[in-house]
Amino acid sequence: MFKSLNLGVAAIALAMSGAVSAGPLGIGSTATAEMIAGWDIDIRPDGTGLPEGQGSVADGEGLYEAKCASCHGLFGEGAGRWPVLAGGEGTLDTLHPEKTVGSYWPYASTLWDYIHRAMPYPAPQSLTDDEVYAISAYVLYLNDIVDEDFVATKESFAQVKMPNEPNFYIDNRPDVQNTRCMEDCADPSEFTIVATVNGVTPTGHFKEDSGVAANHYGGDEPKAAAVEVALSDAATAGQAVYDKACQACHNMGIAGAPKVGDAGAWVDRIATGMESLHSNAINGYQGPNGVMPAKGGNMSLSDDEVKNAVAYMVESSR
Ligand code: HEC
Ligand code: HEC
Repeated sequence: MFKSLNLGVAAIALAMSGAVSAGPLGIGSTATAEMIAGWDIDIRPDGTGLPEGQGSVADGEGLYEAKCASCHGLFGEGAGRWPVLAGGEGTLDTLHPEKTVGSYWPYASTLWDYIHRAMPYPAPQSLTDDEVYAISAYVLYLNDIVDEDFVATKESFAQVKMPNEPNFYIDNRPDVQNTRCMEDCADPSEFTIVATVNGVTPTGHFKEDSGVAANHYGGDEPKAAAVEVALSDAATAGQAVYDKACQACHNMGIAGAPKVGDAGAWVDRIATGMESLHSNAINGYQGPNGVMPAKGGNMSLSDDEVKNAVAYMVESSR
């Protein structure tokens, strides 16, 4: 309460000084160094951000019992259905992993940050820095990570190694390294979403017989033109199979699947002949655009059902 009141007063003072025109809640005004410091409370894995101060396991015991044990249990075992804070070692790769500070959390700094920021649950940010050090030390002690004579300080806390740290690593998938492309962007006001996914887009969005789909803003959007082709018997039978087992990828071109109804995507494929299309659909294959799973992953389909679905796809894509 006290903190947000301060922010409000600072914002009003700024607005009245005439330096900037601030909207409600001071939006539009420049944040002062003091305001930023109020939000800048994160502690990094290497301990950056930890304040001066100290607290021992012994100091933490009494504080924990008074302020935390009612929910988290005297030994961190969790009272009732409140979160468990200690134990669970060796359970992470079992059917019932118990993720606690000791068994799961990779960095001790997170404990300091979390307790300081969010606990005790009914009164977040009510603890002094020394109290946070002491209680954090005690929670680490409950997890057998520090000894009973441990005194947490900025320096000693940053040295604590958590048992599960080696199982966390920086996301190394290639797409996280891409440089951001912010050039030649299309005008967002020109974007219209026209695609719909069978069985996913609620049909209630379409006004009956109007040829348009109502959008969320009460306006109208063009509805994809209905495909007016006379289907063979095989294709007619295949439509239901397609809707059930194939449309998830082929309706939208998901995962590199040629989109049904897009003649350009199908012309070369149709040219390879129905036999080849049947065999690829039934047995699956790795193509240049992606993986087509055998029978679309639905092995309960008969070969004939898959062939019918292919007939439907081909005939709707001419
Ligand atoms: C009134 C009950 C209550 C009290 C008292 C309380 N907590 Fe919590 N604590 C919670 C709840 C609820 C959560 C889960 C919050 C969430 O997930 O958003 C939680 C989460 C936590 C977690 C994270 C657990 C995890 O693995 O995700 C820690 C650590 C923690 N509390 C420490 C403390 C400490 C230390 C104190 C005393 C200073 C304290 N809590 C007091 C209810 C309480
Ligand atoms: C998980 C997504 C997925 C599902 C489900 C799926 N497909 Fe495909 N399908 C693909 C992809 C991807 C390709 C394109 C692979 C390539 O050529 O690069 C493809 C290609 C095809 C082709 C073209 C084959 C060729 O030789 O060019 C046919 C025919 C086809 N699928 C039929 C089906 C049928 C029938 C079903 C349902 C029984 C189905 N697919 C379900 C992903 C899927």
